[in-house]
Amino acid sequence: MAFKIGLLGLGTVGTGTAQILLDPSGRNPLLEEIVIHRVGVRSPDKPRSVEFLSGVMTTDLESIVNDPDIDIVVELLGGLEPARSLILQAINHKKHVVTANKAVIARYGDEIYAAANKAGVYVLLEAAVGGGIPIIKPLKQSLGANRINNIIGIVNGTTNYILTQMTLYGADFDDVLAEAQQLGYAEADPTADVDGLDAADKIAILASLGFGGKVKREDVYCEGIRQVSAADIIYADKLGFVIKLLAIAKGSRGEASETLQLRVHPTLVSKTHPLANINGVYNAILVEGSPLGQVMFYGPGAGAGPTASSVVSDVMNIVAILKSSGPVQTLDPLLSCVHQHYCQI
Ligand code: HSE
Repeated sequence: MAFKIGLLGLGTVGTGTAQILLDPSGRNPLLEEIVIHRVGVRSPDKPRSVEFLSGVMTTDLESIVNDPDIDIVVELLGGLEPARSLILQAINHKKHVVTANKAVIARYGDEIYAAANKAGVYVLLEAAVGGGIPIIKPLKQSLGANRINNIIGIVNGTTNYILTQMTLYGADFDDVLAEAQQLGYAEADPTADVDGLDAADKIAILASLGFGGKVKREDVYCEGIRQVSAADIIYADKLGFVIKLLAIAKGSRGEASETLQLRVHPTLVSKTHPLANINGVYNAILVEGSPLGQVMFYGPGAGAGPTASSVVSDVMNIVAILKSSGPVQTLDPLLSCVHQHYCQI
């Protein structure tokens, strides 16, 4: 029996996802049971590297989430609308959902998870934070025994790429941003990257998982990297620091987001700190808990291949569950989720 995917979005990550699904050889045989049934796109005339999907393409996105033959909707449109409404519609039509959409999950996670619980379907979002790094499932499950008190991460690949190029090669901000866009790291509107909004979405999601409370996206203090100058980088270097855009969540379980420390800002990081050496598009998330101590997750944080790796692995996880005889288990709700210039950590 084949499991049918409805793919919403065929941009950078959508194309990467299709490429894995269309070439399962040498990978887990489970992939051979997953087929792309239909693809929803907003710009049908855009040239695509997976041309042969044109036969299953439509601009009628709603027809995909309503299609009775589709088992899993993979939402890779990005942005708030129509993504949020389509995810909810898919859930209401009893489809499982895989999404990379941090903006939607950070703001409407509780609404989406309540709907998913009611419908008895899965919503998986490994690709929403850290690109190819497994962090959602580890934080939710593998670290479940811990009292988490600190999550500090470089969670935006575009800004880390820009800061790295400025630091190592004295590159110009605008030139490197254009490069990051070409490489498929930046959001459609790169403002979300450079102003820290994307990182704020991601830390809201991580905080809701780590601290188990209701984390409101608007409680995340957010400052991007536009003000970081070449001079800042040079002086930081002379003092033994590098400048990184960090996303920080500190607190304890059950705490309300108004009292948790939730912030994104450029930070002076000592050159001896493990986060100082995370360069380019790479992300790293340091989680501190008791009795665990510290653990750091590291890997490519953006781009077609790494992000698609997380998307397709989520699809496979759902298919593996559907193939097992057990019923769909109740989902854990993922609750939707200080100004300090260049603070030291
Ligand atoms: N624009 C995002 C980044 C993509 O640069 O990290 C991955 O979420």
